[in-house]
Formats: sequence, structure tokens, C-alpha cells
Amino acid sequence: MKTNLAKEEYYTPEQEAIVEEIIESLSQAQKTLSCKYFYDEKGSDLFEEIVELDEYYLTRTETSIMNNNIEEISRLIGKNCILIEPGSGSGQKIKILLDNLIFPSAYVPIDISESYVKDSANKLSKNYPDLKILPIIADYTGEFKLPGFNFEHENLVVYYPGSTIGNFSPEKAKEFLKKIAHMCGKDSYLLLGIDLKKDKEVLEKAYNDGSGITRKFNINILENLNNLIESNFELDQWAHKAFFNEDKSRIEMHLVSKEKQNVNINGYTVSFNKGETIHTENSHKYSIDKFCELISDDYRMNKVWTDKENKFAVLLFQSI
Ligand code: AVJ
Repeated sequence: MKTNLAKEEYYTPEQEAIVEEIIESLSQAQKTLSCKYFYDEKGSDLFEEIVELDEYYLTRTETSIMNNNIEEISRLIGKNCILIEPGSGSGQKIKILLDNLIFPSAYVPIDISESYVKDSANKLSKNYPDLKILPIIADYTGEFKLPGFNFEHENLVVYYPGSTIGNFSPEKAKEFLKKIAHMCGKDSYLLLGIDLKKDKEVLEKAYNDGSGITRKFNINILENLNNLIESNFELDQWAHKAFFNEDKSRIEMHLVSKEKQNVNINGYTVSFNKGETIHTENSHKYSIDKFCELISDDYRMNKVWTDKENKFAVLLFQSI
């Protein structure tokens, strides 16, 4: 493919790779953008607003499941563990574990955002002076290595909350968790949250909130691209669309082109028909059985916790 990087000399290899990846994903029959581009500063702020929405039950439900069962979770995980968190972000989600686990030995946050990792490591080291913090700045969906743990510790525990696993296709989720199991070794723990399959109406409302925050979040991906690379997406030319795909058991988010239009990306033109969409996110919904079955080559399930209405589940696995 010709990407025609007119100002090639100004790009770092990473930026060049970003531009190529974006053009490639917008050259497919169904145009797509990776959901990782949602999370610039504005997108991260919008996501913080999403988790507060009445319609968006996921985070709130998971938090209450964690709060209600934290004693048992801590007892099962045991003392002196090493906590590993892919996609640690601002380091908020880990607090319940750091506050309640029995003398955790170390915390390994992994995040692509250097500023997030550094800020949260700084804060945590003040609040938890006895805890070793071993941050990794990396895209955890790619290749990365764990540091050597040459100090006394018991189990490795990977914490992956928020139904983030739902962004992967089932095949990719299985592959990713297999990689994690290999990295952490036999009998390491995996504590993760999944959003459960439920009424289409409830699911669709969670991604079509009345105050339009999810719409803003979706459209912000284009604004982020305009800042990140030389693209000229016109933000008011796009509409938000989110629906439950029953067949694939996933919420799909799309941006719909309001008119026939061209967008210029670093000298390369991408054409959109009226009504054509860019697929921006998948959020897979599972039954507990299906999810356990999916990763059963690599993990056995130890325990599952849910809420009264079975909206969300927190599961503890051990690698085999
Ligand atoms: C952060 C991936 C769990 O899929 O529900 C929220 C992202 N997208 N509203 C989800 C999201 C639209 C969220 N995850």
C-alpha cells in the first residue's frame, strides 16, 4: 500500500507505524479503527463520565461485587502475592486489592501511557511504602517481558477488571490469556471481570446513554486522530451508532458518515459513502460457562462472584 508520507522526515518510526495502521484499517471493506485510540486525555475523561452514568451499570456492579467479596478474594489469593495489572491506567482499580490483600509483595502496573504509569507509581509508593512497584511501560497486547522477581513472594496474580477482555474477539481473548498464563507460569492466578449476556435493551442503553456521553466518547476518536496524525475528519459529519449483535454476542460501536465525503490522512484520501460506517469498538458479552470453556485449555476456574441480577461476574482462575 502506498501511504505517501509527505513529511516523512518529521515522523518517528512509531508515528509512521500508527499512520500506516490507521490507513490500513480504513482501507478494508468494513472500515475500522482500533479502540485503543479512544483513550487520549479527553477520551479518558469521557470514559470517567461514562462509568458514572445510570445506564452504564458495568463498573458500578463490578465494584460492588469486589467490595462484597474482598475478604474471600484475599483469603483465596493468600499472602505475599505479586499483583500484575495490564492496562493499569491511573491506578484506581487496584486500590481495593492493595488495601485488602495480605501483605502483597509487589505491584506491576503495565500501561502504554508513560505519564499514567509514572504518576500512579509515585502516588502508590507514598501510600504503600512497603510495596515494591515495578512498572512496565508497554502496549500489553503486544510483546512485553515481566521483570525478574528476585525477592520473597508467593503467587503471581493478574488482575484484569472492567470487562476489558470484552474488547478482544473470543479467539484473541483466548490467545491473550494463554500468553499471560505462559508468562506467569503454572498455578498463577487470574482475577478478571466480564460483562454477562443479558437483555438486548439493557445492553444497548448502556452504550446509548440519554445524555450523549458515549456519543461524545465515540466521536472523540476522530478528534484524537486529527491531533495524533495529519487527518482532517470533520466531527459534525459523523453520527454515533451502538447496537447488540446477537450472533456475535457483542455490542458494536460505529461512526456513521452523515454524507458522502473524503477524508485526507497524511496525503492519502479515504472516501466514505453516505451511511457508511467506521467500526470503532466491540464489547463482547459472555455467559460464565462460555467464558470458562473458552479459556479451559489454560485455566481452571476457582470461584465466581456475581451480583443479585447476574449482570456482571468477577472470576478467579488458576493457570494449568
Ligand atoms: C472499557 C472496554 C470495558 O466495552 O464497556 C464504554 C468501553 N465503550 N462505553 C466497554 C466503553 C463505550 C468499555 N470497556
